Formats: sequence, C-alpha cells, structure tokens
Amino acid sequence: MDNNYHSILHVKNEVLLNSFPLDVFVHSVNVANIALSIGSLLTDNKVEQRKVYDAALYHDIGKSKIPPSILHKNGKLHHREWVIMAKHSLYSQELYLNMASNDTVNKEIGKVIRHHHENWDGSGYPDNLEGNKIPLYSRILKIADVFDAITQPRCYRPFRMRNAIDVMELMKGKELDPLLFEKSKGLLKILLEETYSKDTCNWMEAINI
Ligand SMILES: [Fe+2]
Ligand SMILES: [Fe+2]
Repeated sequence: MDNNYHSILHVKNEVLLNSFPLDVFVHSVNVANIALSIGSLLTDNKVEQRKVYDAALYHDIGKSKIPPSILHKNGKLHHREWVIMAKHSLYSQELYLNMASNDTVNKEIGKVIRHHHENWDGSGYPDNLEGNKIPLYSRILKIADVFDAITQPRCYRPFRMRNAIDVMELMKGKELDPLLFEKSKGLLKILLEETYSKDTCNWMEAINI
C-alpha cells in the first residue's frame, strides 16, 4: 500500500531526527498493521482505513518525550513515574498535530491518538471516557495495542504469551469494547498463529537489520 509505505518512511525519518526508541517504532508499525486489519473488517473505505492506520502508527510517538529511565524501566513503575508515562498519549496527539497539516482529518486522527488508553469501563486515561464515547478508531487501536503488547517479547518478559486471546477475553467489557473484540477475535487468532510461526522477534525484520 503506497500510502502506508509513505507513512512508514515518514516515521523512519522521525526516528532518526528525534531518537524515537526503536522498540516503540517497531511496536507502532505492528499496531498499525493489526489496527488496519481490524479496520478493514469494518469498512472498505480507504480514507477511513487510512485514519485508523495513521493513528495507530503515531499513537506512541509521544514516548519520545518520556525519560528513558522510565520508558525502559525493568520493573513496575512507581506512581510518580506512571503519571509521567501516562502523559505520552497527550504528547503523541500534540506531536502528530505539529507534524501533520491542520485539517479536519488530522484533527480526528489526533483525537483517536489521544484516547488510545481509554478503557471501555471508563477507567482509562487521559479523559476517563466510557463505552461508545471513546472514538471507534481508538477502541480498534486499543485492541491492536494490547494484542501486540502481549504477543511480542518485552524487556521485562522475554517471551510471547501464547494465551493472548484468553488474556484479552478477560479484558472484554473492562479495558476492551466487547462487541469489537468479538468481531476481531477470528483475525487475532490467525495473527497469533503467524506470530508463533516465527522464531525471532519480528521487529528486527521490520527495520531490515
Ligand atoms: Fe500508548
Ligand atoms: Fe502502544
């Protein structure tokens, strides 16, 4: 997809310019592809698919403003550190809008980015939005974000979780939109099988090293 390729190149430039953490960059590309796949289940409209993809691609770009000591901390964050980390969705919205042209589509994408850590039950951040008040594309992004987070190795968990779907099943109606998760489940199962069939962490492939 030409447009997606252009976006990825754009992010690659941002990575070089702003020292965007490599693992966050690769996570973002993964999440963008997963979110686009979920979005494609809901609509054939390329403009709408592009909104989902771009929001997902830039959703964590605000982590470039989080101190590495917090971002890469190997262990649980203290409350003070968590408060700093939680600001990344606002930073991401801000950075995206600074980077993109100031039109209505980009403002909408900015909102989707802002709300990617809202929870279906209203316990998320930054605005404690609940249910359908959370933008649909943020709810898609959330599913893709959680899926990638628990199926890719992390510095604090150097293995993939094979029971990802079961784990996400428990998050249904709490963190995740229950209906959207049910619609996405078949696709996530296929993606999970693809993830397991690879021996190495796919972020190495994504940047061609
Ligand atoms: Fe995030
Ligand atoms: Fe993320």
